[in-house]
Amino acid sequence: MAEERIPETPATPETPEPEPATPETPETAEEPIKQRKNGLYAAVSDELTENMKTGWADTALHGLAPIPQAAETAARRAALSARFPGERLVVPAGNLKTRSNDTEYPFRASTEYTYLTGDQTQDGVLVLEPTAEGHRATIHLLPRSNRENGEFWLDGQGELWVGRRHSLDEARQLLGLPASDVRELPKALAEATGPVRAVRGHDAGVEAALADKVTAERDEELRVYLSEARAVKDDFEIGELQKAVDSTVRGFEDVVRVLDKAEATSERYIEGTFFLRARVEGNDIGYGSICAAGPHATTLHWVRNDGDVRSGDLLLLDAGVETHTLYTADVTRTLPVNGRYSELQRKIYDAVYDAQEAGIAAVRPGAKYRDFHDAAQRVLAERLVAWGLLEGPVERVLELGLQRRWTLHGTGHMLGLDVHDCAAARREAYVDGTLEPGMCLTVEPGLYFQTDDLTVPEEYRGIGVRIEDDILVTADGNRNLSAALPRRADEVEAWMAALKQA
Ligand code: GLY
Ligand code: MN
Ligand code: MN
Repeated sequence: MAEERIPETPATPETPEPEPATPETPETAEEPIKQRKNGLYAAVSDELTENMKTGWADTALHGLAPIPQAAETAARRAALSARFPGERLVVPAGNLKTRSNDTEYPFRASTEYTYLTGDQTQDGVLVLEPTAEGHRATIHLLPRSNRENGEFWLDGQGELWVGRRHSLDEARQLLGLPASDVRELPKALAEATGPVRAVRGHDAGVEAALADKVTAERDEELRVYLSEARAVKDDFEIGELQKAVDSTVRGFEDVVRVLDKAEATSERYIEGTFFLRARVEGNDIGYGSICAAGPHATTLHWVRNDGDVRSGDLLLLDAGVETHTLYTADVTRTLPVNGRYSELQRKIYDAVYDAQEAGIAAVRPGAKYRDFHDAAQRVLAERLVAWGLLEGPVERVLELGLQRRWTLHGTGHMLGLDVHDCAAARREAYVDGTLEPGMCLTVEPGLYFQTDDLTVPEEYRGIGVRIEDDILVTADGNRNLSAALPRRADEVEAWMAALKQA
């Protein structure tokens, strides 16, 4: 916000009486300092300006314990340092994005910055400066708001408006990193010499400062490294993923308890119910919840969630809670709205269940990443042939990919800070790679019969089923992090019945 465009303080007992509000007027150099909020201005007297400078307690915090993942973020930075010796590395958190006027979208720090610092502060930038021994990491942040120049109550991002920030010294204690004022960073970056790489796409100011020092190709190598580095999760990350899944399980239970209210309203009731759990127990949802009732289940990314929920239909719910540390779950269950699968729904559900079982069984260290997908696809192809929807033999179906008319998508993906984690990894490190202990992936086969698909019997049309679980590769196989949520059809029915009675 430009210095002259200054917000009005809210009318609370703690704040001085604002001047009578006047309609917004164009700024001129002669205008006195004004406060602005909701398009209204109020003049600020010299007396009030002086008054607001003093009378505030010292709230500095000392002896803060480091964040729980301080050791892990240090290890991640050390690995990054070893990969790019002698180069300055710049990793921004990103900036607020305007929704309209002085209203912003919720901020989520970039995955790369969060991974390397454990911090989520808007405008933050991690810089690794090359040294003789490796790198010196510094986090660059906005310091506490200045009270002397009025910034803390007159600027729209002042602490009076948006809440107290950590001081640079507090950030240092928490993050285990020296902290500097980020407002001095662009100049320092512009003046710096030597090779530089930056993570792009988050902070236009940082990118402008580095414009003549970086290349897209070299920056991409940094992004790829940070994507691949995240493939194997450390113990802290695995704990966070389990927390995300556990909250997600509770969110699914919440939804089952209110299905009658969803029937009386719409899919939005389901979306809102899950969102409440995500916001109360975590930071947010990890992606837009897919609350797809009836034929909407055949639309892979149905996030409009404005349709009817009807007894006799299936509800495909694909949703995940994101923890306060930004790790997300990604879980799908396909539930009978009235608590009982019909015969045909169960037949299709069981096929997807069997495919998922085969997929999960193929997740183990040393397996090719593709194995779980191939195992699940084979089961689905066999079933489609058995039902007479495809002509065999199954080998030919698989060779030509004919089952994909109804299976539609890959059987899973890496999971972590991003729901589709490690997305910038090279093929050889991901889809053409090998599973290792500590990797976490979804196994999520599905069958989807579109309402207008004339190649299937009419009764199939409008049925979509997906079952998705979050699977950790362990030293000797795998662990299903979402095993607490029933999957087998009869177990799902019993679970729903118990929740509805409770
Ligand atoms: N929720 C998106 C996915 O399952 O990949
Ligand atoms: Mn998924
Ligand atoms: Mn999903």
